[in-house]
Amino acid sequence: MVTGGAGFIGSAVCRHLVGTGSYRVVNLDKLTYAGNLTSLRDLEGHPNYVFRHADICDTDKVRQILADEQVDLVMHLAAESHVDRSIDGPMAFVTTNVVGTASLLSAVLDHWRGLGEDARKRFRFHHVSTDEVFGDLPFDSGVFTEESPYKPSSPYSASKAASDHFVRAWHETYGLPVVLSNCSNNYGPYHFPEKLIPLVIANALDEQPLPVYGKGANIRDWLFVEDHARALETVMTRGRVGDSYNIGGRAERTNLEVVETICALLDARRPRASGRSHLDLITYVTDRPGHDRRYAIDPTKSERELGWTPLETFETGLARTVDWYLANGWWWRPIREQRFDGSRQGLVGAK
Ligand code: NAD
Ligand code: DAU
Repeated sequence: MVTGGAGFIGSAVCRHLVGTGSYRVVNLDKLTYAGNLTSLRDLEGHPNYVFRHADICDTDKVRQILADEQVDLVMHLAAESHVDRSIDGPMAFVTTNVVGTASLLSAVLDHWRGLGEDARKRFRFHHVSTDEVFGDLPFDSGVFTEESPYKPSSPYSASKAASDHFVRAWHETYGLPVVLSNCSNNYGPYHFPEKLIPLVIANALDEQPLPVYGKGANIRDWLFVEDHARALETVMTRGRVGDSYNIGGRAERTNLEVVETICALLDARRPRASGRSHLDLITYVTDRPGHDRRYAIDPTKSERELGWTPLETFETGLARTVDWYLANGWWWRPIREQRFDGSRQGLVGAK
């Protein structure tokens, strides 16, 4: 079972797992503003894929689905995922990411206890988490390892930190076989156009300003989503029970570098009618409150213990991403028109 399988990373995970031919995937999703079944168009009607509409907070319904579908592995991705939305409305993050994860763990524990001995041993609950739980790093030193202390800054990262702790508590207290992974910033196809990379691509194609928070000096560590999906399968199948694994692509870039690279790709592929560069659309806007300066993942443990490495560099992955958005307006244009128009989020109620 993949929770949040209609989201950005979850849909990549569903496509990857079904594509291996080794799994039957049950996608459990509430279909919030961020959930989109058109991202799974290629899997519709596939014998090894089924969608179940449910909220992870609904423990009874989840318990029933776990039994009906005879689930033997759970990958938990369902979450409220956008930092700026968590500044405007933190309670939805507490409800889904904290209460929802604890509710899901309760249903999964009941299900696990009812399995036969062999199935109980093979069972895994994999919590898909974020590097943001570790807080921020100085611009010029340090990396996040699995031993880094938790120091979340935003309501989003605080809710993910809490959910990590609940997952570990269900392992230590009840013996549920869990694994955790903490990943850096993902990008790629089917990314909801409120996040930096798809927002900038969509705005550039619509001749809209490209909003860069502060001076654009903040650093994120980028990973192509399909590399993350492969990593998650590896963690679930080969990770040590009770352990966590950091996942990242050793691809630190300032936000300004990211935006400038997108502009250069678009200048080459879709020149503006005016003949001017897309760089002219860059606009510096009010910074994000509590903006973490830098994230940097040390993925040595995942590389050494699991044998995982990314296939894409930031340059090849970003070129693939820009090409995908150019070719797939059918996916993102209706979202811009009906769900989110690209306006600024994350300033309401901030200090
Ligand atoms: P997303 O916002 O694109 O998708 C979230 C999905 O969860 C949506 O399909 C939504 O409908 C579903 N969902 C939300 N609340 C639900 C509920 N109560 N019950 C059932 N389904 C619900 O998120 P994403 O970017 O794909 O992230 C997936 C997971 O990976 C999250 O847990 C996130 O914290 C984590 N993560 C994301 C990144 C990243 O860069 N995007 C990096 C590291 C970790
Ligand atoms: O690090 C992993 C995290 O990455 C995940 O856990 C989150 O779910 C995911 O949303 C992402 O969080 P970020 O806050 O890093 O992603 P976002 O795309 O919102 O912002 C990336 C950087 O770009 C950040 O420094 C803020 C900046 N930014 C963002 C937007 C939306 C801008 O400068 N302009 C923008 O318009």
